[in-house]
Amino acid sequence: MSLQISSVRSGFVGEISGIDIAHPLDAATIAALWQAIDRYAVLVFRGQRLDDESQMAFAQQFGELEIPRSGQADVKRRLRPEISDISNLDPENHLRGRDDPRRFDQLGNRLWHTDGSFRRVPACLSMLYAHRVPGPSPVGNGETEFADMRVAYDTLPNDTKSEIADLVALHDIAWSRAQLGFSQLLFGEKQALPPVPQRLVRMHPGSGRKTLYVAAHASEIVGWPLPDGRLLLRELMEHATRQEFVYGHVWREGDLVIWDNRCTMHRGRHFDERQVRDLRRVTTRDTASTLEQVA
Ligand code: OGA
Ligand code: MN
Repeated sequence: MSLQISSVRSGFVGEISGIDIAHPLDAATIAALWQAIDRYAVLVFRGQRLDDESQMAFAQQFGELEIPRSGQADVKRRLRPEISDISNLDPENHLRGRDDPRRFDQLGNRLWHTDGSFRRVPACLSMLYAHRVPGPSPVGNGETEFADMRVAYDTLPNDTKSEIADLVALHDIAWSRAQLGFSQLLFGEKQALPPVPQRLVRMHPGSGRKTLYVAAHASEIVGWPLPDGRLLLRELMEHATRQEFVYGHVWREGDLVIWDNRCTMHRGRHFDERQVRDLRRVTTRDTASTLEQVA
């Protein structure tokens, strides 16, 4: 096994080299990658050649797959149901128009979030692969930014740590979209995805570290007046996304990036939407609601 890891930031974001992930990996390599995930929270693999099937097969070595919202709905899709289509293309491979509701739904990804926190059993690992990336442009390059929520927790004042230790937030896909003024739920989520409770402070099982679990989906703190809860959530997110806790990934075609949704937040950045950006994500599920996990 010639796997090598170099740390992009100390303790956050590992760049992996020396492996081809398009083929099944042996148990020792999977174990080494889990160790790297537990340590670095975000892993970058450059120069990979994956199709949708090999991307799924790679992800399945790390857990059960989560089916995206649109994959569960009766809508026309460009890709198979297990793949989240993080592109600006419609099912006919044409660029989506500015007023396309599916584009509005995707703009929710530009808000700091963690994937699937609005599900009772939330997401564990997201694995995003770049098929085509837009060139640099004056409006932006379509980077994805990541924030280290373990460091965010560690650097909170002790009084705040005590205040939030046992709090529970409600997470709601409708709320993250409503913040952008987009109130149409496209995939019948009103019944399928009601708000769910999640712990605000989690223990990350692989590292034993505490981590803040907040996201644009978090709409209120259970038992608190609505404005107080929203202010707290906003303040925690502002703290967590200070530039020194953030890594911006500049995409190249052939990059696969894994992030651990249990202890990171991320957001997409602007790009020239007249150019194609075709990224595809496969996501694994955690094993239980955060309420059932050790705090
Ligand atoms: C995602 C996501 C942001 C981006 O795939 O979950 O939020 O940069 N992506 O496309
Ligand atoms: Mn996301």
